Amino acid sequence: MSAESPRLLRLAVLLSGRGSNLQAIIDAIEGGTLSAEIAVVLSNKQDAAGLERARKHGVTALWLDPKPFAGRPDSREAYDRAVLEILQKYEVDLVLLAGYMKIVTGVLVKTYENRMMNIHPSLLPSFPGLDVQKKAIEHGCKIAGCTVHFVTEGVDEGPIIIQAAVPVLEGDTPDRLAARILEQEHQVYPRAIQLYAEGRLKVEGRRVTVAGIGEATTGFRYPT
Ligand code: GRF
Repeated sequence: MSAESPRLLRLAVLLSGRGSNLQAIIDAIEGGTLSAEIAVVLSNKQDAAGLERARKHGVTALWLDPKPFAGRPDSREAYDRAVLEILQKYEVDLVLLAGYMKIVTGVLVKTYENRMMNIHPSLLPSFPGLDVQKKAIEHGCKIAGCTVHFVTEGVDEGPIIIQAAVPVLEGDTPDRLAARILEQEHQVYPRAIQLYAEGRLKVEGRRVTVAGIGEATTGFRYPT
């Protein structure tokens, strides 16, 4: 980095599984639509495919085994303190949960207040939690979708940054709907990060305002 280059926003991606959202973030960085760098990818699962994806792109990918922390009353906090140490070592500015199947505690949430995002495959506040595509179909929803939000201590509860709507089609199975929602996830997560990198997100209570976004256009993503 030359003395003149601005410091890039440093990201950490926390994941437990296949890492397709990580891939979308990597692709956006490599494709020039996201000005940031991934400082570290961290998983609680040794065999998470996302770790391999990161390594293929030369990104540091670490597994932090939860086992040594288990069985103590503050096991979740203790684990998060170890995570925090890693995030600080890698000088992370923004933490991204991307299929991270562990509830983060106040240890991380307080340190990264309004600096930690999550992606969830429903239109929150409908259907927090797990198996949400199946729940949307069973509920008879006509529109499903995904949400990028800041992380607070309540699961899937934090201020909403971007949402994308996806129609529920006749005869949809949870897997088919999930696949179409995932395509939208891969659009909105890098976009939300880029808006953050540009300093355009302002959190006021539950509301996130986005500087420079005009009138809503008809469409299925907002802000685009
Ligand atoms: C995505 O559907 C995301 O919304 C949810 O977990 C899934 C992770 O998928 N939080 P991937 O590991 O990014 O492919």
